[in-house]
Amino acid sequence: EDCKKKKIEDYVRSIPDFPQEGIIFRDVTSILEDADGFALAVDSMQKLLEGVDVDVIVGTESRGFIFGAPIAYNLHKPLVLVRKKGKLPCETVEQSYDLEYGSAVIEMHKDSIKPGQKVVIVDDLIATGGTVEAAAKLIEGLGGEVVKLVFLMELAGLKGREKLEKYDVQSVICYE
Ligand code: PRP
Ligand code: HPA
Repeated sequence: EDCKKKKIEDYVRSIPDFPQEGIIFRDVTSILEDADGFALAVDSMQKLLEGVDVDVIVGTESRGFIFGAPIAYNLHKPLVLVRKKGKLPCETVEQSYDLEYGSAVIEMHKDSIKPGQKVVIVDDLIATGGTVEAAAKLIEGLGGEVVKLVFLMELAGLKGREKLEKYDVQSVICYE
């Protein structure tokens, strides 16, 4: 029976030429829209945190929230949101990062991480690694220690792992 058990890969819809020609887009919605797929995704990511000493879960807007929230809830840890600029109401720190074209800015509340806290960053997918590298800089700027980065999907061809070589990076599934 075990060979009938579905794997995460079975829930991922791949769309050729989105958002532009030559790119195969790995769609997270096809996982979320299946209750078993969503549960397997959260459980598989959480499994990567077994034995990890963590104080705070950080999720990056917006797909990082989807997975960061249930993991923080299950582990009974605080959930800190890293948001795109202009969304957070209190005093923030900000960091710009490069996208494939142009750049963007993310923010977090200045008081959301206390010095010495052990932080795990959660996101749905790592491509170039630019987003979570920027998030890690914000966390470290507040005195936090980034103990692990957890992703559901990794696009290995974009070499995000190399950009993040000083961190413990783990993903549930990997695409070339
Ligand atoms: C996507 C994805 C990751 C990031 C990965 O988010 O959810 O956060 O891009 O790319 P990178 O490794 O090259 O930084 P996006 O900025 O599209 O925002 P969204 O989650 O709101 O769709
Ligand atoms: N899927 C989802 N998000 C992404 C991708 C992808 O293939 N590439 C960059 N961000």
